[in-house]
This record gives sequence, C-alpha cells and structure tokens, in this order.
Amino acid sequence: MQLNLTDAPAQTISSPCVVIGVTEGGPLSPAAVAIDEASGGAISRMLDSRDIAVAIGKITFLHQLDGVAAERVLAVGMGKITKLDRSRFDRACLAAGKALRNHPLTACHVCLHEVEFGAVSFGWRLRQAALAIHRANYRYTATKAVKDDAPVPLQAASFGGGAEYQSALDQAAAMAIGFHKARQLGDLPANICNPAFLAQEAQAMVQAYAQVELEILDEAQMAELGMDALLGVSRGSSNRARLIIMKYNAGAAGQQPVVLLGKGITFDSGGLSMKSPENMIQMKYDMCGAASVMGAFLACVSLGLAVNLVCIIAAAENMPDGNAYRPGDVLTSMSGKTIEVLNTDAEGRLVLCDALTYSDRFKPQVIIDVATLTGACVVALGHHASGLFSNDDELASALLAAGDDVVDRAWRLPLWDDYQSQLDSPFADMQNVGGMSAGAVTAACFLSRFVEGQRWAHLDIAGSAWKWNEKEGATGRPVGLLTRYLMALAGVEPV
Ligand code: BES
Ligand code: MN
Ligand code: ZN
Repeated sequence: MQLNLTDAPAQTISSPCVVIGVTEGGPLSPAAVAIDEASGGAISRMLDSRDIAVAIGKITFLHQLDGVAAERVLAVGMGKITKLDRSRFDRACLAAGKALRNHPLTACHVCLHEVEFGAVSFGWRLRQAALAIHRANYRYTATKAVKDDAPVPLQAASFGGGAEYQSALDQAAAMAIGFHKARQLGDLPANICNPAFLAQEAQAMVQAYAQVELEILDEAQMAELGMDALLGVSRGSSNRARLIIMKYNAGAAGQQPVVLLGKGITFDSGGLSMKSPENMIQMKYDMCGAASVMGAFLACVSLGLAVNLVCIIAAAENMPDGNAYRPGDVLTSMSGKTIEVLNTDAEGRLVLCDALTYSDRFKPQVIIDVATLTGACVVALGHHASGLFSNDDELASALLAAGDDVVDRAWRLPLWDDYQSQLDSPFADMQNVGGMSAGAVTAACFLSRFVEGQRWAHLDIAGSAWKWNEKEGATGRPVGLLTRYLMALAGVEPV
C-alpha cells in the first residue's frame, strides 16, 4: 500500500473517501471544520441529530456532501474526548482501517490524526493512524480463492500533513510491513509452514537486503553443539528442526548486538503428552514468536536502523511417534544442565533454552525472546497484553515504554526466586514444568536459568499473538513493540 502526505485542504481532495475523527464533547478537528463549512454545516447537523455516531469505533459513511470534492466522508467515533488516550485513539483508527478494508474502495485520504487529545503530538497521531490503516489492510490469500464480492484492500492512502512528517509515515510503513509478514507466517497452516519453510523465508528476506547475513544450522550441526533439549522436542517429527540466524549490522562496528529469539514451533501437538483437539486446533500459531521476530527484523532493516541485530529462530515441530521424547526422559541441554521432561507439551522452553545458550556467542548487549509459551499467561493477562519478564529493570522499562508508545502493550510479571523451587527435580538439575500455579512465571523462571549474566527479557505472547475467537487469525504482535524498542536504541527521534 502506498502512503503519502498532502497539505491540501480536506474538502478539496478528490478521493473516494475522506476519513475524519469525531468525539463526544470535543471540538471538531480542523479537517472536520473544513468539511463542515464547505458543506453548509452538514457535519454539525448530523452530529446533533446523531446520524453520525461518536461512540468509540463506530463508523458512519456520508455520501456526496455538497462542496466536498471526495465521493464520501467516513466519520469515525472516538468516544468521549475526556477519555481519549493513545489506546482508545488506536482502537478507533483500527476500526476505521477495518471499515476501509471491507469496503470496495481502494484509496482514501485520512485526517483521523487531526483530533487532538492529551499531550500527544501530531506526529505520533499521524504515525499511529497510518500504522492502523495499513495494518488493517492485511488479507490472507495463500490458500484461499478471492471471491468476486470479497472486500478489496486499499491500494493507497494519503494523510493530511506537511513533508516534515515523512519520518512518521516511514515508521508506520516499516512497522506495518513487519506486522504483515508476521501475520502471513502465523496464519499459514503447519503443512506449509514447517521449519524448512521458515528457513526458506529467512533466505528470501535476506536476499532482498545488503548488510544482512544468514546462517542455518541443521540437526547434525545442532547435535554437534549439544542441543539435546531442542533436538529432543524435534525427534518425534519427520520435519527436521532448523536453527535460523539472521544478522543485520548497521550499528557502530564493535557495538554489541541485540539478540531477538523467537519460538518457532511450527506445530505443537503436545507430543506424547498430547493436547486435546480443542487445544490443538490453534497450534499452527505456535511459531508466532518466530514470525514476530522476523517481522521486526524486516521493519528494522527497511528503516535502516543503526543497530547490530541478531535474530535467532528455533524452528521445530512437536509431534508424537515411536522416536518421540517421553515424559520422564532426562535431556542434557547445550549448557550442560540436565532437564527432566515431565510434560512433552512444555516444549517451547526446551527449544528456547538451547537457543539462549547459543546466543552467548554473539556477546549480546541484551537478549529478548518472544514465545507463545504458556496457556497460563492467557489466563493471567487475557489477549490485550503480552507478558513481560526480565532480570533487568532498565530493559523491562524500555520494553514497556516501547509497547505503550505504539499501543502494542506488555505487562510485567514477577520473576522472583521464590518461584524457582517449583522446578526442582529429584532426577535432574530441573524439571520442565512447575506445577499448577503461576505457570507463566515458572516457564520464565526455567528460561532465566539459561541467561545467567545476561541482560534478558522474555515476552510471553500466547494471548496477544492471534485472535482466538474472532476468526481474525494472527495479529503480528509484538512487531510494534520490538521495532519501537530498536528505534529507541538506534537513537531515532520520537515523532
Ligand atoms: N504452545 C503452548 C502454549 C499455548 C497454549 C499458547 C495455548 C497459546 C495457547 C505451550 O507449548 C504449551 O503447551 N504449554 C503448556 C505448558 C504446560 C504443559 C506446563 C500449557 O500452557 O498448557
Ligand atoms: Mn506445548
Ligand atoms: Zn508450544
């Protein structure tokens, strides 16, 4: 989708659709005033008569207003002005994006960001409006015919604003591309998107850019390194595991890299501790951590951020067969620590622990892993926040702030020592499950044992990576949070 800026007055823009925000109790935005005046007060009259809905996320299409060049105006409710904040603004913009996405029109002009609230800058509102419209424009087509009457994606959107805001638009476009990549990969079925497929995707991504290197380890190479925890998970599958390493070096020479690590379980049957059909049905999404890391990589590279970045994808499939790892097996991880497998469905932490140990060799300044790790995290936080765990307060704050700023939010949960004893095993250095209570925390505690001496954070995205009941599929989260964090590290000025 093409995004561009224009300074032309809203009422003069000949577009299929001009999009304005309306609030309850707030003044009309400049674009709304311009359209209202040009149309002899049509907007004010329809607000008074409640033909235009102002409730948050409600939309109203208005046709052929006198004095307005556009074919139609889309009014988007932003709710009470007193309650308007970043998150509610984002929600309204996403609703607008969905309405545009589901309409046959293919171009629009957006003025949503002209609605002022709090101390939020014009650039921020512009970036988030552009990001929301672009994100909502996603369409899954890989394995589905496009019907004649199907909704038509937008080809182009213009945004009200001067050329000085180009960087806000560029940031939105890059993040949206990252979100789309993550969603596409997440939505693909496991019979297509297996570890070898993820490796091919990485190959295709790196070929498009300079300054990028790729390394792919096969199972023999991983065995050589002693990654028996990762290989234990993969053993029951006939799709061989891969460790995919993408490097991007645009930071200062010698600057320690950021490692982003993604859980890439392309299908999680649970293994011999098999999931029930209801729980298994969504498990093609168990590689969404990997997908988001690849999406963030793409966003970062396309913005040309001045950072050194290493992305690691631990790609494997968790299946049961005669060769599969069993409950009670003891695996020796690459770190040398032994793990008693009490549940083969707690496989994410097993592939991640070896990848975390492998990360050491890059002498990273920070390691951030992203994983659809626990159902318990969904119980704790639902679908709105990703769970954040960290052994470093500064890193945790930076990630929370990044998530808040792009409305891709995380919430920190504890990683106290008190929980560690739940992982004690009579037969190994630790067991891979910590019992009924605090499942998201004990999973994070497990990972923490493989990053001693590193600044590390873990994002549990089991609740945020896809929409469970809404037939909307993968969300692409937390591409926004990760990209925003990397932007801050690279010294990109806030918009
Ligand atoms: N991939 C799942 C976690 C998951 C469950 C993500 C539901 C999204 C929705 C993970 O591999 C898993 O199965 N975790 C187990 C851990 C348990 C056996 C300790 C879980 O959450 O039930
Ligand atoms: Mn599992
Ligand atoms: Zn899993």
